[in-house]
Amino acid sequence: MEKTNHGFDRREFLKGTSAIAGASAVGTLAPLGLARAQGAKLRVGLMLPYTGTYTPLGVAITNGFKLAVEERGGKLGGREIEYFVVDDESNPGKAPENTNKLIQRDKVDVLIGTVHSGVAMGMAKIARESGVLWLNTNAGADDVTGPLCAPNIFRTSFSNWQTTYPLGKVLKAKGYNNAVFITWKYAAGEEMLRGFREGFEKEGGKLTKELYLPFPQVEFQALLTEIASIKPDAVVSFFAGVGAGKFLKDYAASGLKGKIPLYGNGFLTDGVLEAIGDAAEGVETTLHYGDNLNVPKDKAFRLAYAKAWKLQPDVYAVQGYDAGQLLAAGLDAVKGDISNKAGVIKAMESAKIDSPRGAWTLSKAHNPVQDIYLRKVVGNQNVVQSVAWKALADPARGCKA
Ligand code: BEZ
Repeated sequence: MEKTNHGFDRREFLKGTSAIAGASAVGTLAPLGLARAQGAKLRVGLMLPYTGTYTPLGVAITNGFKLAVEERGGKLGGREIEYFVVDDESNPGKAPENTNKLIQRDKVDVLIGTVHSGVAMGMAKIARESGVLWLNTNAGADDVTGPLCAPNIFRTSFSNWQTTYPLGKVLKAKGYNNAVFITWKYAAGEEMLRGFREGFEKEGGKLTKELYLPFPQVEFQALLTEIASIKPDAVVSFFAGVGAGKFLKDYAASGLKGKIPLYGNGFLTDGVLEAIGDAAEGVETTLHYGDNLNVPKDKAFRLAYAKAWKLQPDVYAVQGYDAGQLLAAGLDAVKGDISNKAGVIKAMESAKIDSPRGAWTLSKAHNPVQDIYLRKVVGNQNVVQSVAWKALADPARGCKA
């Protein structure tokens, strides 16, 4: 019996998923299947935030994905693309309904998205049940490539753990023994905090305080006052999108900048620097991308992205772009026949992605194994200082791969 990376019986898995597809398309499956085999458009569902604090992230992912498609003549695996778009509003409560809009109503062949970990948890359940191929382009929820890992679920971004675990070593090497972590209270913030604590404690550091506010609130003042009274060696944070810009400005305005060093994973400073003047100057972060990587692929990508969208790319654009590249690898292998799901999955599992972030491969749980960089804000750029962790793989705790 052929096994996937996950130890699932591949034939059983595919049989199960086609049964579900059949149930939702009674009477139309055979002609539809034939039409698709003959080169109908590939139905791609984009489920991303286009309103709220994560809007710039959703837009950058969309732009990156579409750029990868355009570089292939508007086709993947030789098939033209038809897009179906849902604004998920970064609202976990609407995740099942929104995912089902794309899967059941629009009958997408592949699901692309999302940003918010809570929304991704809702998508994961439905992706597992339906068997529809899902490329997660940002949301770091550890469980998605942990206990919820599945043959049809791939991630082109990171796990939440991956982005903060290396920070512990970075801070300890700089001589900091204690730190306070401040973030939004939801899966991403909590898992990133845990990743940092694990890495920091391993080095002998101590996380002395966890400070939370509800997502997507930006009333930071009371918590900044608390930090001032605690006087930790360093502050570590996760915020992203519009909220991250506001946090950086408030941290500087509160007088803490220059007194207590601020760190974070790179979502704190990626895609926000142009809007906030010099409020983040000197802030150091860890992430799987930076603005001056000096890799040929990155130079070409940055030029192409700026030309296509009149914008500078960021980490989110790269993750969207790499989703296009990974999907192309899968579809090229089966000449666009996505009904050959086993063939698509096999090709994606073994792909080596020539990414603007540097080449990466997938772990058995389908999460990128990638270098994590230490970056420093200089002007409008996240300038890479060093590789904080070479080829870091998420531990994939709970994944029966
Ligand atoms: C998350 O919810 O997983 C997330 C959102 C924004 C940036 C990074 C992670």
